[in-house]
Amino acid sequence: MRTLLKLNTSIFGENGASSQLTEAFVARWLAAHPGAQVIERDLATTPVPHLTAEVFAAFSAKRGERSTAQQTAVDASDALIDELKRADVLVLGLPMYNFGVPSTLKAYFDYIGRAGETFRYTENGPEGLLTGKEAYVFAARGGVYAGAPSETETSYVRQFLSFLGITDIEFVFAEGLALGDAARTVAFESAARAIEQLADASRRVA
Ligand SMILES: Cc1cc2nc3c(=O)[nH]c(=O)nc-3n(C[C@H](O)[C@H](O)[C@H](O)COP(=O)(O)O)c2cc1C
Repeated sequence: MRTLLKLNTSIFGENGASSQLTEAFVARWLAAHPGAQVIERDLATTPVPHLTAEVFAAFSAKRGERSTAQQTAVDASDALIDELKRADVLVLGLPMYNFGVPSTLKAYFDYIGRAGETFRYTENGPEGLLTGKEAYVFAARGGVYAGAPSETETSYVRQFLSFLGITDIEFVFAEGLALGDAARTVAFESAARAIEQLADASRRVA
């Protein structure tokens, strides 16, 4: 059975443009993958704490060497990683806030980027351990950045997911959402077309 993990990060909850796009993709994907399991996580309503030196040290410490607080943090990290490992498909809502990714997404990444768990160091450099997954990223932003050097979200998210071994990544953009109703309509229509194509083309292996 295929499993999809939907990660929303919009501060506007289900009303967020990125959340609407992830929802549209999941609905279409489920129609093409009946019986699949969907796991939902909202990083805006249930944020991951910021990484601290104490927690970072706990990641590489043995169970009995950790304080109670450290063990709690590692348990939370383990749960996030297990959830991601179970997923064949990752669907990520990606708003742009102040020219970057939501800080909740960065905090989440800091909790799942763990040596020995999601990547490992080898003689040839780091190697991602979360291979064989598809990722779909739904980027919503007020302005238009396609191809501009100031657009750093795409390269950052691609870099991080690839580092963990998730290299099969598709981005869908809804840009210019603050530029008036007409621009908004065009952006959503374009994203809707991409969603239909990608959801239908997503691998149908059991
Ligand atoms: C706090 C905040 C910061 C924003 N910063 C930017 C920005 O730097 N560039 C931009 O194009 N749009 C910016 N926007 C507009 C959002 O990208 C736009 O509202 C988008 O729909 C957010 O995604 P969401 O609706 O899924 O939350 C910002 C919006 C908010 C609320």
